Amino acid sequence: MSNPRERVAALRAEIERHNRLYYDQDAPEITDAEYDRLFRELQALESAHPELAAPDSPTQRVGGAPAKDLAAVRHDMPMLSIRTETDTEDTGAANFDARIRRELDLGPNDPPVEYAAELKLDGLAISLRYENGTLVRAATRGDGEVGEDVTANVRTIHAIPLRLKGNAPEILEVRGEIFMLRAAFEKLNRRQAEAGEKLFINPRNTAAGAVRQLDPKITAQRPLTFCAYGYGVMRGFRIPHRHSELLDAIEAFGIPVNKERKVVKGAEELIAYHAAIAKKREALPFDIDGVVYKVNDLDAQRDLGNVAREPRWAVAHKYPAQEEATEVQAIEVQVGRTGTLTPVAKLKPVFVGGVTVSNATLHNEDELRRKDVWAGDTVVVRRAGDVIPEIVTVRKHGPRRPEDRFEMPTSCPVCGSPVVRVEGEAATRCTGGLYCKAQRKQALLHFAGRRAMDIEGLGDKIVDQLVERELAKNPADLYDLDEAALAGLERMAEKSAQNLRGSIEKSKHAELHRFIYALGMPGVGEEVAKILARHFGSVANLMTADWTALMADKEAVRKDNVQRKKRGEPVEDVPLEGIGPELADSIAKFLHERHNRDVIERLTRVVEIAAPAQRRGEGGKTFVLTGSLAGMTRDEARDALEARGHKVAASVSKKTDYVVAGADAGSKLDKARSLGVRVIDEQQLKELLKER
Ligand code: IVH
Repeated sequence: MSNPRERVAALRAEIERHNRLYYDQDAPEITDAEYDRLFRELQALESAHPELAAPDSPTQRVGGAPAKDLAAVRHDMPMLSIRTETDTEDTGAANFDARIRRELDLGPNDPPVEYAAELKLDGLAISLRYENGTLVRAATRGDGEVGEDVTANVRTIHAIPLRLKGNAPEILEVRGEIFMLRAAFEKLNRRQAEAGEKLFINPRNTAAGAVRQLDPKITAQRPLTFCAYGYGVMRGFRIPHRHSELLDAIEAFGIPVNKERKVVKGAEELIAYHAAIAKKREALPFDIDGVVYKVNDLDAQRDLGNVAREPRWAVAHKYPAQEEATEVQAIEVQVGRTGTLTPVAKLKPVFVGGVTVSNATLHNEDELRRKDVWAGDTVVVRRAGDVIPEIVTVRKHGPRRPEDRFEMPTSCPVCGSPVVRVEGEAATRCTGGLYCKAQRKQALLHFAGRRAMDIEGLGDKIVDQLVERELAKNPADLYDLDEAALAGLERMAEKSAQNLRGSIEKSKHAELHRFIYALGMPGVGEEVAKILARHFGSVANLMTADWTALMADKEAVRKDNVQRKKRGEPVEDVPLEGIGPELADSIAKFLHERHNRDVIERLTRVVEIAAPAQRRGEGGKTFVLTGSLAGMTRDEARDALEARGHKVAASVSKKTDYVVAGADAGSKLDKARSLGVRVIDEQQLKELLKER
């Protein structure tokens, strides 16, 4: 048996390795239970041998005892703030460059100034102090002179190394932002909701609140991350001449630095960077509220100096806000495809996230009550990317007369059928089914959607008329429409009637999974539709399925697999993996309903449905797509790969076989390279798709 010192060292190395596999590479090699055993063994050894304790031990990441308050820390070098350029247009960047050139006494014939362009991360600024490579202190910015000691909390953040890599300097203060990935934030809120706890408002507040906790165990439960963008005191280290190189050095010490940074020259390239990031903004896994430009030359930075607490050499160039305040004029109810009644706030129009918004969803009755929104209130509205605008919070109460209190209607506002709210469910539903015109319209729109039967030209306005005039009650009726009927619709020229008729005709050839998806069964999205298509292979098989038997069979295979695993035997594929008993029940109900069966039967008489090209496993490789492709959309690439039996995953891990990198590929490409995953370009993808 090795001595405790050696065992502690071995355990630390092993645990750090598993941390990297789990947190950085998304490819754990051991189960959580096995990890816990290693961790507890290390904890036990450290408490039995206090002389072996170390500030950079992985055990320090779980958080110790809560503090009474956070101690004050004076910054040796003040933490500066940054001047904000509120002009979100190109002129914002041009004005900054002009100012810098003036301050540096540069004439029109002097070369362009070099800048470091970075993202403006939206979180909490932090200063990390490493002494001889070990993290010894973390402090918030505070007023710039004095911040708060949050070392215990910051140790719980896995992105922050407790020890630097390589030849660490005597002192290195790294400054950067602690923030939260959007996906992690959403997951956290889902967990809160399930536990019946209060939801968090946005990633930034949540990150800031988590860092300033008195109890580090709470911080440890918040999925925080970190990126460096600057520095404080440095000693015993050859400091490079450029800001960008300093960040490279910090990165080489093992500290994360954002990959989207770029060295650019002159106003034009600043503008191009601002525009390129604006395009990418929604696709980034975290929120930003702008970009930051910094004069890259550190000597020039020193010459430029500061005004008050803001350096002259840097500016934050903002984007249009994604949150704005406005007034709720009324709360109405909309009926969705599956009959769900959604309360919608009618807003005084407001410009947010680049468009004018006049409606925002309140999701459901519980959400509306939780946020306590009334007509007349002033609220904060958020719109990011393609997501539906929503109300974040109430900023100021309106008059709130009791008679204005919102009540969920007891009958459907569209068809008058009674509404029900199933116990344990958030949704209130209209019981009218396809008798309800709102549901009919939504069902037709869904059926015609791009990812479903792809009937081009069958939009809102047309569907409204088809349903109002009772020309189409269900998807099957669409195929009975002739050109004359279509031409009779309002605002429908002869040519467009012809085109629409043509797209309806074209949709008569469909792949099975698209057809299943198009039916709009509750709970059946694209993924589930694909599982059903692969399993059943035809509409007839799907229609005659015995769901009780299937689910029993599934359960039996699963149980058998548990035994097989114990015996070390190979396991079998679980049938209909991904479809649980509740979903199976709802599919079975839908398929049993007379009306639905009639519609499906009529559809199968006119639509020619192609069985899945190949069954799962024949292609069997896992792909990740990143960047933009020139000759096809990512959806098309995904369809083509899946049709050949391959899988397309969202993120890169050790299990990825190929990463297809298009133009402007970002962090997924970097990750592929660091994991040694094979990277191919669009041309290679095309060749691969040609192969049999
Ligand atoms: S540099 C030289 N760079 O923005 C001035 N700050 O509004 C020091 N921030 O307190 C800051 N991303 O919390 C800098 N790439 C970036 C940044 C960034 C986000 C934050 C930081 C700062 C605040 C100022």
